[in-house]
Amino acid sequence: MFLEVRDLSVSYGAVEALSNVSLHINEGEIVTLLGANGAGKSSMLHAISRIIPAKSGRIIFNGNDITGERPETIVRKGIAHCPEGRKIFFDLTVLENLQIGAYSIREQDIIDANLEKMFNYFPVLKDRRSQKGGTLSGGEQQMLAVGRSLMSSPKLLLLDEPSLGLAPKLIDQIFDIIREINHKEKVTVFLIEQNANEALLHADRAYVLENGRISITSENAEELLSNPHIIRAYLGG
Ligand SMILES: Nc1ncnc2c1ncn2[C@@H]1O[C@H](COP(=O)(O)OP(=O)(O)OP(=O)(O)O)[C@@H](O)[C@H]1O
Ligand SMILES: [Mg+2]
Repeated sequence: MFLEVRDLSVSYGAVEALSNVSLHINEGEIVTLLGANGAGKSSMLHAISRIIPAKSGRIIFNGNDITGERPETIVRKGIAHCPEGRKIFFDLTVLENLQIGAYSIREQDIIDANLEKMFNYFPVLKDRRSQKGGTLSGGEQQMLAVGRSLMSSPKLLLLDEPSLGLAPKLIDQIFDIIREINHKEKVTVFLIEQNANEALLHADRAYVLENGRISITSENAEELLSNPHIIRAYLGG
């Protein structure tokens, strides 16, 4: 197993956001985690990238227990987190935002190559490289956030609602890019989405989180598109 989350619990004071959650991701997969608002999806990603501590449980990546590691170490080990709500640096330029994503890389030629790759994936970022992040449109900021997280040459990309607030055309574009990154660059993807339809179409496997617990595990994400409970709760059927 590439990533294994074992009996993970996360609390904010008295609020338990995740209760004994176990899941795994195999190398090369796109795995999606669905759930309603407040289900604990972002908390899962925050715990993996160590932005918040686990109350109990273990997180194993590539055979190493990373449960107690520092966030910088997690990045260096190959996990990148693209957080919810874009979270780019408004006062820095597009180029500077991208460069910050590569802070864990020392070799300038790798940084340059990654930058070139990002400009290929997101030509709009190349056109706007000198523009301040805060002046980008919402969709452009989303692309910058995804591009920045890829600048660290991750093996595992944690994506928190990449399609949030995007127009349908941009949603298609961002999912196309996610697939391409997964296929061409062999980046394993853990995808959190409210857009269950798109997520299930693009993912290999899926988990559903309800009130901090896994309620459904699927070995074939597309199958869930015809699951009555999923249709009722997540596909607006
Ligand atoms: N910093 C925090 N302090 C206190 N409670 C928090 C904090 N962050 C999250 N929570 C609570 O933990 C629960 C899970 O939150 P989380 O952000 O993981 O949900 P989510 O599934 O990502 O929701 P959404 O779809 O709205 O982004 C919620 O009840 C939330 O109020
Ligand atoms: Mg969230």
